[in-house]
Amino acid sequence: MVNIAVLVSGGGTNLQALIDAEQAGKIPHGKITLVLASNPKAYALERAAKAGIPTAVVSRKVYPDQDAYDQAIVNELKKNDTDLVILAGFLSILGSTVIRAYPDRIINIHPSLIPSFCGKGFYGLKVHEAALEKGVKVTGATVHLVNEIPDGGKILLQKAVEIEDGDTPEVLQRRVMEQAEWILLPKAAEMMAEKISAEEEK
Ligand code: GAR
Repeated sequence: MVNIAVLVSGGGTNLQALIDAEQAGKIPHGKITLVLASNPKAYALERAAKAGIPTAVVSRKVYPDQDAYDQAIVNELKKNDTDLVILAGFLSILGSTVIRAYPDRIINIHPSLIPSFCGKGFYGLKVHEAALEKGVKVTGATVHLVNEIPDGGKILLQKAVEIEDGDTPEVLQRRVMEQAEWILLPKAAEMMAEKISAEEEK
């Protein structure tokens, strides 16, 4: 069984989609064994507690520099025997220490069709504000591998979502979550868990 750590910063609806999928038997090769938050007030921590999943909080501001912060995250992940890391609305920056500790073992969900509306400064509602401002008619979500380029790793899954007349950033965000993110992320989790299980059997 592949141990999955989910990293969160906020509401945790994507975490909830993963928990629901696991409970419904849709992630047979993996188990969420840790929820790590960058923010002690993240509602995602309550979702984890309700599902009986161990939690940890690692706040950037407690550490003197990026490297010390990264090392603290790696320590939590190692303590948990993490095999796969899923960034599910994790809005803190991960440095090279974490990325190098888990090469091709970190995935992220981004709320646009990469390479549109991604990279530095594009997170959460800002992504949908930018899409509406540009006037695109289609947006969506992307799950990709995490490397040292923000939103620059290999694309694993994408799904398009229509923009409708009168959309606000909040309305669009919700549609992208419902029609794309909550479907893609559990699917990507199982794809990766199955691949890692197969590699470990070799
Ligand atoms: C999601 O829309 C996720 O795609 C986005 O933050 C939201 C978190 O919501 N992530 C990014 O923008 C990363 N660049 P959630 O906490 O309810 O899952």
